[in-house]
Amino acid sequence: MRLTDCYNFHDFRRLAKQRLPGPIFNYIDGGADDEVTLRRNTESFERCDLVPDVLRGVSDVDLSVTVMGQKLAAPFYCSPTALQRLFHHDGERAVAAAAAKFGTMFGVSSLGTVSLEEARRIGGGAPQVYQFYFHKDRGLNAAMMRRAKEAGIQVMMLTVDSITGGNRERDLRTGFSIPFRLSLAGMLQFAIKPAWGLNYVTHEKFRLPQLDEHVEMGGGTMSISRYFTEMLEPSMSWDDVAEMVRLWSGQFCLKGVMSVADAKRAVEIGCTGIVLSNHGGRQLDGSRSAFDQLAEIVDAVGDRIDVMMDGGIQRGTHVLKALSLGAKAVGLGRYYLYPLAAAGQPGVERALSFLRTEITRDMKLMGRTSIGQLSRDNLRFR
Ligand code: LAC
Repeated sequence: MRLTDCYNFHDFRRLAKQRLPGPIFNYIDGGADDEVTLRRNTESFERCDLVPDVLRGVSDVDLSVTVMGQKLAAPFYCSPTALQRLFHHDGERAVAAAAAKFGTMFGVSSLGTVSLEEARRIGGGAPQVYQFYFHKDRGLNAAMMRRAKEAGIQVMMLTVDSITGGNRERDLRTGFSIPFRLSLAGMLQFAIKPAWGLNYVTHEKFRLPQLDEHVEMGGGTMSISRYFTEMLEPSMSWDDVAEMVRLWSGQFCLKGVMSVADAKRAVEIGCTGIVLSNHGGRQLDGSRSAFDQLAEIVDAVGDRIDVMMDGGIQRGTHVLKALSLGAKAVGLGRYYLYPLAAAGQPGVERALSFLRTEITRDMKLMGRTSIGQLSRDNLRFR
C-alpha cells in the first residue's frame, strides 16, 4: 500500500499501521479503558443528519473562519499532539509546514519533539497554538509561558483533562514509554519495520525540547500516563488558571472543558476560547463526546467565548455538523497523525487537501457558500 492508495482516514490509518512499530501505532490508535468514548466520538456524528437546501447559486464557496483572533482559510486546525518525531522523523516540522500551506493553525505540544521556535519558523505566518501542561514545577510553568510569549505564539491552550493519567491498556501491554528507547522488544520491531527503524536511528536523537532543560527523568523512562500522574500538578485550580490568563494577556483557551458550569467559569476568568474535548478518548472513558455536548455549551457561552471542539472527525460532513451546532472551528488529531506516520508532510497535505475538498463539496451540496450560513436549521437529530 502506498500514499497514492489512500483516499480517506481509514486508508491512512492502514498505511500508518503498516509502517510503524506496533507500540507506536498503538500509542496513537488507542484510548482509555474499553475505548468506548474513542469509538463514540465518531459514532455521535452519525446520530444526526444534514438537511440540504438546493438551487442557491454555489459557484464560489468561502471556507474561511476567524477563531481565537486568527483568520483561518478553512474551519479546521491541527491540534497539538505529543511525540510527533516518533511517528515520522520530520514530526512537527511536517505538520507546521503543511498547516501553513493550507492557511490554518497548528499546535505544538509541551511534549513536542521539535522546539516551538523552530516550528514557528517553519510555519511562517501560520497561527500557532502552544499546548500547555501545568507541571508541579511552577518555575517550569513560568519559564514555558515566557518562552512561548517571546517566540510570538498567538494562542495559549491549556489542557485541563489530564490531571492524572488515563488507563491506556494498549500502552501497558506494549510498554510504550518516553524517552523512547529501543528496548529488546523494540529491536524486534526494528527488524520487522526496517524503514521506520532506519529513519529513527539516522535522524537526530529523540528530545523533548520544550521540557528538557527542566525535566529530569533520572535517565529512566516512563509511560505517558505515568508522566501525567507524576509530573503534572494535581492541585491545579481555577485560581491557578486565572493567574495564568492574567500573565499571558492574550488569546487563551482551555482544552478539555465539557460542562456548562466550567464553560461559564472559563468566561469569568477571562479565557477567550474553550475546546470541548475528551482528549481523543484517551483519558476518561465513558465521558460524553464533544459533539454531543456542543449545543448545550454553545447555548450557555457561545456569545461570549469561542467554542471549538475535537474528537472523532474523519469527514467533511462531520465538520459541517459541528459548525452547524455553533462550533467556530474543529481540531484534528489522529486525522493528520496517521498520514504523518504514513508519509510525512506529503501525507499530511494529502489528508488536509481531502478534507478541504470534502467540505467545499459538502457546502455546495448543502446550498451554502459561507460557513456563517450553517445553522441548526440544517440539522435533524434522530
Ligand atoms: C496523549 C497526550 C500526551 O498521549 O496528549 O494523549
